[in-house]
Amino acid sequence: MTANPQNRKLWRDVTLFDGLETLPAPMAVVVEGDRIDLVVPMTELDEAIAAGCDAMGRGGVMTPGLVDCHTHLVFGGSRAGEFEKRLEGVSYEEIARQGGGILNTVRATREASESELFALARPRLEALMRDGITTVEIKSGYGLTVEDELKMLRVARRLGEELPVRVVTTLLGAHALPPEFKGESDAYIDLVCQQMIPAAAEQGLADAVDVFCEKIAFSVEQCERVFEAAEAHGLPIKAHAEQLSNLGGSTMAARHGALSADHIEYLDEAGVNALREAGSVAVLLPGAFHTLHETQLPPIAALRETGVPMAIATDANPGSSPLFMPTLMLNFACTLFRLTPREALAGMTAHGARALGLHERSLGCIVKGAPADLCLWDVDSPAELAYAVQPGRLRQRIFKGEPRHG
Ligand code: NIG
Ligand code: FE
Repeated sequence: MTANPQNRKLWRDVTLFDGLETLPAPMAVVVEGDRIDLVVPMTELDEAIAAGCDAMGRGGVMTPGLVDCHTHLVFGGSRAGEFEKRLEGVSYEEIARQGGGILNTVRATREASESELFALARPRLEALMRDGITTVEIKSGYGLTVEDELKMLRVARRLGEELPVRVVTTLLGAHALPPEFKGESDAYIDLVCQQMIPAAAEQGLADAVDVFCEKIAFSVEQCERVFEAAEAHGLPIKAHAEQLSNLGGSTMAARHGALSADHIEYLDEAGVNALREAGSVAVLLPGAFHTLHETQLPPIAALRETGVPMAIATDANPGSSPLFMPTLMLNFACTLFRLTPREALAGMTAHGARALGLHERSLGCIVKGAPADLCLWDVDSPAELAYAVQPGRLRQRIFKGEPRHG
């Protein structure tokens, strides 16, 4: 075997989706250590360079490692009972008003220990990884006390330490009003701003701060107070907004330079323009749209024409999106939201990374210098990843330059 002191690896003859588009010719990709070092058409591959690399294989479709920029993977309990209620015609909002929904999961999550939550979340994350995820965002939001929110964030951090995947954490203290604050939502927002955010920031447990801006959650004004507290602690922000109604949460979030506005089925034209001006990403969550039988479609055409980057994520959670299969979301993005397969894939690679503020390091793209997080798929074209729903097509998941199976 050729000496290879720099740990260089070569993939030949791949059909390459680089995070934004599919390149026209078969490509060669060289990884050195944990970085991409060379991306060239096969016709330009210098065999002297190839001889100094370990040969990793030939053919297949290569994409950036998939980025799931919106999940709630850490939680206790199950909401299968509510699933059945919704099928009988009770709405997600009604269930929430009756003290179920998010609060149902809050009860189970508070009762669970850190190690129990870790044991529950691990197989969910492994399912995402088997389907190509190399970067995942995980939110808190089912603890709703300072200690329980920090507990969730510690579990998320530990998942990233123990498994070969990048984990980005988000504090979602303003997810729902906990029962002990009934009728006192401003006082709860005080707790989020004055205690939760400072504690999470001080302990380095949160990479960003999120809110749920909705009639069944928090008002635009309350969410803005959360954002001001986040800014005071140097944390970027994002919002669950315009999911069930149009309150203007996305526009306010954009005014604060949000990384993203997520769900956004009810986003109007002013909101689209606000996202564009702020450079925020529109995170589309077709799994929640599907699960809740929504009918209001996000303003895809306006986002596309205005040039707002669209990300796609699983929103994996026990209530509105108990779906742990990223490539199914690519399919849903196309079938339910009419994205093209190219747009859907960009949404789970380059734009997903942008929604997490990681694009400056070229995460989610296959270019020289980018982190070597890659997927090699046994399919004929990138579009097949969105076209067919078929587990088991991932030949290699390459994390920080190292191929791993699943
Ligand atoms: O992204 N919209 C609010 N939060 C989650 C749902 C959480 C739940 O129902 O448990 C979402 O859909
Ligand atoms: Fe969510």
